[in-house]
Amino acid sequence: MSLVVPDGTGIDLQAGVPPSAAAAPARWSHRHLLDLDVVSWPEIELVMQTTDAMREVLARPIAKVPALRGIGVTILFYEASTRTRVSFEVAAKNLSADVVNIAASSSSVTKGESLVDTIRTVEALGADMIVMRHATSGAPYLAAEHFGGSILNGGDGWHAHPSQALLDLYTIRGHLPGGPNLHGRKVVILGDILHSRVARSNIWSLTAAGADLWLCGPSTLLRGFDRWAAAMAAVPGHGRFTLTSDVTAAVRDADVIMALRIQRERMSGGLLPSLREYAARFGLTLDRLALAKPEALVMHPGPMNEGVEIAPEVAVHPRSVITDQVTNGVAVRMALLYLLAGAAGRAREATGG
Ligand code: CP
Repeated sequence: MSLVVPDGTGIDLQAGVPPSAAAAPARWSHRHLLDLDVVSWPEIELVMQTTDAMREVLARPIAKVPALRGIGVTILFYEASTRTRVSFEVAAKNLSADVVNIAASSSSVTKGESLVDTIRTVEALGADMIVMRHATSGAPYLAAEHFGGSILNGGDGWHAHPSQALLDLYTIRGHLPGGPNLHGRKVVILGDILHSRVARSNIWSLTAAGADLWLCGPSTLLRGFDRWAAAMAAVPGHGRFTLTSDVTAAVRDADVIMALRIQRERMSGGLLPSLREYAARFGLTLDRLALAKPEALVMHPGPMNEGVEIAPEVAVHPRSVITDQVTNGVAVRMALLYLLAGAAGRAREATGG
């Protein structure tokens, strides 16, 4: 099957992915991916279409194309990760990039090196793109100010996890009975909303997609989102979202339920009486899933605490698409690396660099 990205400058899989990322579709203009709040709906659609193309690459006997040959991708993680770190690494290698992995715990960060010094050092060592995760919200923005290449945010504090939200959207569109259009479809994010960068990025993409978005959790873990919901009404093309601590009302007739982990490592204390009570009042159990539409999708960005926010039998339920989320992460991140490398290449050409 041939897939040509609609502006005619995109990917034709009959011919293969263009040999240079500079041939990536011209409608993507961002050098960095820090959050989705500056990414338009047509650009999100472009990521979805480019991901389709990358999935076709992944289905080939040799799932490797030369699109990022000669491009240095450094994966710089200051926080633990399995899915994001590994899938970005696999994605970059599938595109033939030169990949370097740095775990902050075994780098000169432990000797007091600052983030800015590390970024400058990584650039001097040949990085063109840095995928970074940091415990501090906003750290990738600081890195972007000091780096001549592209920064991809792999999760910063409570703030944003844009590639996760894009793979969540891609997974929903691929599995939603009745087709990929989310307009008016009830999507519920259930759990620790307060500490969740995944929820914050998903708010942008899912309201842009027209979903009827519900955020559900204990009131202590929804603080501040009421002001955001009201403000969203003024954002062109985005819908408001509903906040509730009534889990029955939230999951009733839902099309999608995404459970979120209780992030004990980010809690200052006093927000929850106990995990046992949380599981009883807010955990996604089979009984609660039965209130959703019969074909409702079960999602979780991982890592999961089974028996707390999601019952083990729900995590592996036939309606669970949790492992599909992980698999789609590679194709979505291939698409993002490809699009950002193309934008950076065009920017260099324009400035004669
Ligand atoms: N969803 C997610 O970010 O998982 P990791 O922490 O394993 O990367």
